Amino acid sequence: MMWRNLVGNSGRAWRSRCMSIVRRFEHVSPAPKDPITGVTEAFLADPSPNKINLGVGAYRDDEGRPVVLQCVRDAEAKIAGSEFLESVSAAVNSKMVEESCKLIYGKDSDAVMEGRFAGIQALSGTGACRLFAEFQRRFYPNSHMYFPAPTWSNHHNIWRDAQVSARNFCYYDPQSKDLNFEGLINDIKNAPEGSFFLLHPCAHNPTGVDPTEEEWREISYYLKVKNHFPFFDVAYQGFASGVMDKDARAIHIFLQDGHLVACAQSFAKNMGLYGHRVGCLSFICDDSKQAVAIKSQLQQIARAMYGSPPVHGVLLVSTILGDQAIKALWTEEIKIMADRIQGMRATLRESLEKLGSPLNWEHITSQVGMFCYSGLKAEQIDRLVREFHVYMTSDGRISMAGVTTGNVNYLANAIHEVTNSGYEESQILGESGF
Ligand code: LMR
Repeated sequence: MMWRNLVGNSGRAWRSRCMSIVRRFEHVSPAPKDPITGVTEAFLADPSPNKINLGVGAYRDDEGRPVVLQCVRDAEAKIAGSEFLESVSAAVNSKMVEESCKLIYGKDSDAVMEGRFAGIQALSGTGACRLFAEFQRRFYPNSHMYFPAPTWSNHHNIWRDAQVSARNFCYYDPQSKDLNFEGLINDIKNAPEGSFFLLHPCAHNPTGVDPTEEEWREISYYLKVKNHFPFFDVAYQGFASGVMDKDARAIHIFLQDGHLVACAQSFAKNMGLYGHRVGCLSFICDDSKQAVAIKSQLQQIARAMYGSPPVHGVLLVSTILGDQAIKALWTEEIKIMADRIQGMRATLRESLEKLGSPLNWEHITSQVGMFCYSGLKAEQIDRLVREFHVYMTSDGRISMAGVTTGNVNYLANAIHEVTNSGYEESQILGESGF
């Protein structure tokens, strides 16, 4: 037969060839589920009509629906018909980077006015972090990246895959459910000179705990003393206070103190552009010559990783940031989103208190941004899933964006149920409980 001739006329040889192909992937076992996207998968598979997804940090309206902001609709109307099927021009990219830098470093910042910044469009916040990690590996091969403990789970994946050594610094104190400021400063002091520190300038993910302005000043001071490099991951600008500039205050303090910094910005949450993957990685440099060199290196890294990013999102972002009226509308819409989340924090806490919960729920309202680090334990979270169909990440992080007027009482009841029974038992056993 024809095919036999083609494989050397030997059935045995052909079979052994097939076997070797089958064996090719034998050593590949399934990867563990991602701690955040895995929650969405479990939620989607649950048929219960009462289910609530408090896992992923994605904004939802009071009906629990994803939102397309009016500013995005206006920007879409403005760019409709433009020829954007090819890569966008360098001018559009530069405009987007410049506007992003103004947004985060301040429109009047010396570095921006003097052109001492370098940046490129990135695949949202994850892509911006990944580019930075690669830059760090290439140009600072023996350096360490210090993460706040805890931090967004994907930071660990990103720096691990870039093969940069990662360490933690003290950040959250589970006892006080607040910042461990003393531990944080000690870790800055004890890190090897010239280390890299990843900082969340606002709406810390996952804890919702941000340093005060005074604390940021001290953090900036001690990082400077040790010649450490501050790298800011800004995924939630606008969600802490509802005001873009206020949420960038920490970075302004660092610039005033003369730091050179880098920033990963995402427009996924504050413009609701999740699927479009638009972000920006930027650096503040000593002079414009340095900025040119850094930009060319970033372009080279991106070129080998994914070529160029999609064009539609960058047109939307540059249109929103570059058009005064649309930008003004955007800032109003961010305030509405931030206020809704803030309102849900107050209602959730109030509902738990009304139920007579003996526990202290103050942290629900003192923490800021999209997340509440609830303090719920693994077994309580398991019960929330099994008995109440309430989903959250296994560290007890609640995405407050998933809480609505319609589900807040159900949620409060569920939390009260799983914490109260444990609390009563621990009282009998004489433990400290929750
Ligand atoms: C989150 O922390 O839930 C978001 O940043 C979304 C994500 O991709 O992890």
